[in-house]
Amino acid sequence: MFESDGSCDQAEGLRRMNRAKTTQVLAVTSGKGGVGKTSVSVNLGVAMSRYGKSVMVMDADLGLANVDILLGLQPRFNLSHVIEQKCGMRDVIVPGPAGIRIVPGSSGITKMASLSVVQQAALIDAFNDVGGDLDVLLVDTSAGIGDSVSAFVRACQEVVVVVCDEPASITDSYALIKVLSRDYEINRFHILPNRVSSVQHGRELFHKLTRVTDRYLDVVLDFMGVIPEDDYVKKAIQQQQSVVERFPGSRSAMAFRRLAKEADGWRHSNRPNGHFQFFLDRLIRDNVSDGGLNE
Ligand SMILES: Nc1ncnc2c1ncn2[C@@H]1O[C@H](COP(=O)(O)OP(=O)(O)OP(=O)(O)O)[C@@H](O)[C@H]1O
Ligand SMILES: [Mg+2]
Repeated sequence: MFESDGSCDQAEGLRRMNRAKTTQVLAVTSGKGGVGKTSVSVNLGVAMSRYGKSVMVMDADLGLANVDILLGLQPRFNLSHVIEQKCGMRDVIVPGPAGIRIVPGSSGITKMASLSVVQQAALIDAFNDVGGDLDVLLVDTSAGIGDSVSAFVRACQEVVVVVCDEPASITDSYALIKVLSRDYEINRFHILPNRVSSVQHGRELFHKLTRVTDRYLDVVLDFMGVIPEDDYVKKAIQQQQSVVERFPGSRSAMAFRRLAKEADGWRHSNRPNGHFQFFLDRLIRDNVSDGGLNE
């Protein structure tokens, strides 16, 4: 049960968020690590921002702080400081390329399951402070099917599974989809083949996956398009920049722009409502009730 002081704050926070605009909340995930989740989160975010959207990328990887490293950021504060009420959300958010906002990764994310009611209210309020005008929140998760990954994925409305053409990536994607559909009733997934040689190659990869999911699972997979194998992705990372900004004429930058343009058409999958509030609500409250974020 909520204590009265906390629940009042929280209720007011949620009411304010209800009045806010609809936010598309996308989890970027994968079965196997190293397939391109962080590159996709950042570059898709930058491309969407270039199309005039207000974008935030949240680094929910519990291991290395991926997004910070990829973009060469050195954040002073992270979510654990907000939870401990040492700073506000505005102190945590780091400006990224093309005006995107970044919530840096932190071990504090695992603590979300064990927050007191007052801390929950503080966190919701803190997010509320910045989330109201967001068009898109991209959540860069860690790979695999750990409890904390699942918690983030199920809090989002749309799930993007990045896959590349390696046997382990395909089998691990299948395992991830299986668990998310079985345990969390997520039954629609966007599949994004990365590092492929052509659209045809990406489609073949997609079909490898649908062949098994159609047979054994009750899920729908959407083909999102592809990101090609492109050395400019690596060059941009070496320079700690997004490829979309650093090498706008590259094949991968063009692919990210194409994806960003189509993003509005993706709004149809797991969750009927798209307020930022639902993300927080699911992430914080649902996990408190079943301990889903406890590692
Ligand atoms: N389209 C691409 N073309 C060429 N190289 C790529 C492409 N996408 C990713 N890479 C390479 O793969 C590496 C891993 O990418 P990234 O860090 O985005 O993966 P990840 O899934 O976030 O990994 P982790 O699971 O460790 O978080 C990059 O450093 C880059 O060298
Ligand atoms: Mg990563």
